[in-house]
Amino acid sequence: MSIMITGGAGYIGSHCCVTFLEAGHDVVVLDNLSNASPESLDRVSRITGAKVSFVEGDIRDGSRVADALKAHGCTAVVHFAGLKVVGDSLNDPLGYYDVNVTGTLALVAAMKACDVHTLIFSSSANVYGNPEELPLKESHRIAPMSPYGETKHVVEQILGDLVVSDPRWQVAALRYFNPVGAHETGMIGENPLGTPTNLMPIITQVATGVRPALQVFGSDYDTPDGTGIRDFIHVMDLAEGHLAAYRHLVSREEGEGLVIANLGTGRGYSVLELVRAFEHVSNRSIPLEMAPRRAGDIEISYADPTYARQVLGWSAQRDLTAMCHDTWNWVCKNPKGFAA
Ligand code: NAD
Ligand code: UD1
Repeated sequence: MSIMITGGAGYIGSHCCVTFLEAGHDVVVLDNLSNASPESLDRVSRITGAKVSFVEGDIRDGSRVADALKAHGCTAVVHFAGLKVVGDSLNDPLGYYDVNVTGTLALVAAMKACDVHTLIFSSSANVYGNPEELPLKESHRIAPMSPYGETKHVVEQILGDLVVSDPRWQVAALRYFNPVGAHETGMIGENPLGTPTNLMPIITQVATGVRPALQVFGSDYDTPDGTGIRDFIHVMDLAEGHLAAYRHLVSREEGEGLVIANLGTGRGYSVLELVRAFEHVSNRSIPLEMAPRRAGDIEISYADPTYARQVLGWSAQRDLTAMCHDTWNWVCKNPKGFAA
């Protein structure tokens, strides 16, 4: 019996592999390596002392997925594989719908054919769009503002219909806020293959001299320091949220419906607060350039994590200092990412 982790060679998936292996599960990763290096899985094995089975394949290739599920005797899937850059999704909506929606359909069809009915899906706080109220609760209005967010919303709806159609399905859609940080060993971390667009990888590029300054997108927001506020969550807390969701799914009765849960800390920090915390931990200065607001950005986003605490028995444990410390440790130990 093992658990398939799609996209398990990527940023969040590799940390999730560690958490599941350390909890005693066998893990098989299915990843097409479009945004990952297989070195991440060697590192996972070194951290845990456990073997990770790897299948290079695409989630849209249903027969490859089904063969892997059968060959490894998988009983559940944690599904991270997908495209995640909001800006790219505006330029390539068809590509995003293809991988994120068609890919998930192919994966779920393969699971159904193999009698595997337990699934944890990576959704995003992006589905809320511009919040009407804060903190964000799972019941709040869904209004994605990009094709990326639409793909997550569409998949949530498909999964909702799926669990109604057959009570054997045990499915959770986890809405992540802003994952940052790295494993405490500094052996795995975020290693985007292209040019990063998220805040933390850009901060680290400035800290290491790859970029001269951080452009702060918007300093006129209605926030205490004028910059955007986000709910940054340590990637290991996020990984542990998946284990909690898995344990919840396999312990409950059939027919209890789709689990939808925010995974955030419940606390928002501004762009400048994150920069200051990072400067303090790294002892590097991050030069800033104030820039106009980035198109499509929201002002403030942070979770109400009550549902995850009450239903999954999970809450984030690591603070902003740990997020910055572990990011910096990863970057210092791997200045070229996994390429070194
Ligand atoms: P990532 O790009 O590091 O990981 C995704 C992995 O999926 C990569 O290893 C990539 O090679 C693989 N992949 C992509 N397309 C595939 C395909 N067609 N078939 C097989 N493998 C494929 O991204 P991440 O940050 O680890 O994100 C994981 C998931 O979490 C994504 O679904 C993303 O949308 C979601 N998410 C991420 C964030 C974030 O800020 N990182 C926030 C909310 C939700
Ligand atoms: C975005 C998406 C989220 C997606 C995530 C990962 C939205 C609302 N959210 O998160 O769904 O899962 O990316 O791709 O689209 N910033 C700067 N300078 C920079 C980079 C960022 O000031 O160089 C600021 C942004 O303006 C924002 C904050 O930092 O205020 C966080 O940005 P980012 O890390 O890109 O994440 P989100 O936009 O919150």
